[in-house]
This record gives sequence, C-alpha cells and structure tokens, in this order.
Amino acid sequence: MSAETTKSAMTEFNHPNNELLIAEEDIARRIKELGAEITAEYAGKELVLVGVLKGSCVFMADLMRAIDLPMAIDFMAVSSYKDGMKSSGDVEILKDLSKPIRDKHVIIVEDIVDTGLTLTRLIEILDSRGAASIKIASFLDKPEPRIKKELKIDYTGFVIENNFVVGYGLDAAGRYRNLPFIAIVKNPAEA
Ligand code: IMP
Ligand code: MG
Repeated sequence: MSAETTKSAMTEFNHPNNELLIAEEDIARRIKELGAEITAEYAGKELVLVGVLKGSCVFMADLMRAIDLPMAIDFMAVSSYKDGMKSSGDVEILKDLSKPIRDKHVIIVEDIVDTGLTLTRLIEILDSRGAASIKIASFLDKPEPRIKKELKIDYTGFVIENNFVVGYGLDAAGRYRNLPFIAIVKNPAEA
C-alpha cells in the first residue's frame, strides 16, 4: 500500500498541530459525574447556571443536560482589560445577564481557569447583586499560571498541565471551538 492510501486526510478534527488530550468519551463520563454532584447538592434550591461566553457554550450545553433539577440558565460575556500582555484583573461586561440573580443560587460555568483574574472579578460583580450563593464550575483547571491562588473552583472537569489547549468550546484566535475533544496546541505560534 502506498503512503498516500494509508495516510488519512487532514481535517479540522485531526489537524497536525493539535494533539489529543481528553477524548470525547472521557468528557461525557466526567460531565455525568459533575451533573450528579450538582443535582444532589442543589435539590430544593433556585439554581441559575451562568455561562461565560463564548468558551463555556459547549460545556454549558452538556452540563445542564446532566442536572436533573428545575433550573434556569443565563449568559454573560466579559473581556479582560489587558495592561500590555498582562491581564489587569478588571473586566468589561460585553453582555450582561438577562434577569436579576438576587436570592438565586448561582453556578458560574467557565471553560478554563488560568490566572483566575477574570473569574475573581466576575464573582465580585455577581456577589454585589445579592445572589444567595455563588459557586464555580470550570471544565478545565490549569493551576500553574494561577495568580489568584485563593480562588476556589467548586466543580472541576479536569486538571491540566500548563499547555495551550483547544476544543470543546476553547479557541485559538477564534478557531477550534467545535472540536468534540480537548487537544494540546503543539506549536501555539502556528495556531
Ligand atoms: P484567566 O483565568 O483570567 O487567566 O482567564 C481565563 C480565560 O483565558 C479563559 O476563560 C479562556 O478564555 C482563556 N484561556 C486560558 N487558557 C486557555 C487555553 O489553554 N486555551 C484557550 N483559552 C484559554
Ligand atoms: Mg473565557
């Protein structure tokens, strides 16, 4: 057989610069577990999942279908103010919640926590609006670059090493959010 016939075609899902880190089946299994935990802990409470756009969209869609409770969803979009290349920790609200969260039990749904600056500020903002409680569900936790060491992630999908990853909602310059798995970008300069 020639090299041509054995080599599979390059597609978006098997891009050579991306290396599989977390498979679709493992993601599905983990989300069922997180959903069961949240279902047990929020029974009888008014739960609102707040997704942080855009990265959390895929995790949000899967997580909400694993929570067997009456609940609502809402979304925010924020952009971190950058001081040169460094995140300053202040955030600009690009899209705000559509309803008040006063007296609601809020779970903020994030794609990944890196420095923790964005989420720390977001918690302060939502806390000032009188939520009954605020917890964090992050699909990925990348603890190494964490600046806000005190930030507590209540529900974590997977803890990963300090690599740039894409897929399952996470992007590199807007691309690869549609990958159904998590991949490490081998050469970020080429992504
Ligand atoms: P931080 O925790 O304030 O540093 O911001 C985390 C945000 O940075 C996430 O919500 C992502 O949008 C983005 N981010 C951090 N690490 C990665 C990564 O490995 N891939 C894609 N986006 C990332
Ligand atoms: Mg994000």
